Amino acid sequence: MKRFVLAITGASGVCYAKRLFDCLQSNAELHVIVSERGAELLNLELGLKVSYFAGGNVTVYKNSRINTSIASGSFSLDSMIIIPASMGTIGRIASGVSETLIERVADVTLKEKRKLIVVPRETPFSTIHLKNLLTLDQAGALILPASPGFYQGQNSMDDLIDFIVARIMDQIGMAQSFLPPYKS
Ligand SMILES: Cc1cc2nc3c(=O)[nH]c(=O)nc-3n(C[C@H](O)[C@H](O)[C@H](O)COP(=O)(O)O)c2cc1C
Repeated sequence: MKRFVLAITGASGVCYAKRLFDCLQSNAELHVIVSERGAELLNLELGLKVSYFAGGNVTVYKNSRINTSIASGSFSLDSMIIIPASMGTIGRIASGVSETLIERVADVTLKEKRKLIVVPRETPFSTIHLKNLLTLDQAGALILPASPGFYQGQNSMDDLIDFIVARIMDQIGMAQSFLPPYKS
């Protein structure tokens, strides 16, 4: 079973995280971290509590609990996905701040040259945001913005969410059938 860390931070678009979680939960080992603001957005946008993620192959962590096995480089994981990724979290990771569990696991993922997928959600971007995103890209992260395409018959909100989640599933090597390769 592949092992993923899913980090949910305080940006709009927690629906992407929920859908990704729902797609992965039965066929991967999941470690879920939700920032304090991420928990507020979960409640605001979806009416969900962090406890939604508990159970089965899933371990849920407090973001303040840095002293845990997943904070160590010796904990081998396949990928970390930060979804949605706030500009605050992105800025702190880009400047090497490793104070919360999300920041620390991202830091370790980069130093161990493992796959870090960052799904930013903000508009417009400031120069600071763009510089921080470039820093993460240069450090080895994959920046996969929450900006779905509309060219494959997407006409519902679920289709647009699936567009992004399918791209992430492709990137982490998990099978998905809801977004086939584009054919003109
Ligand atoms: C309703 C609401 C929506 C927000 N949406 C975004 C967003 O889309 N993108 C973003 O970067 N920050 C957004 N923020 C700001 C972040 O939540 C804030 O910077 C927070 O400190 C991020 O903390 P975290 O990265 O630890 O989760 C939003 C805040 C609120 C209250």
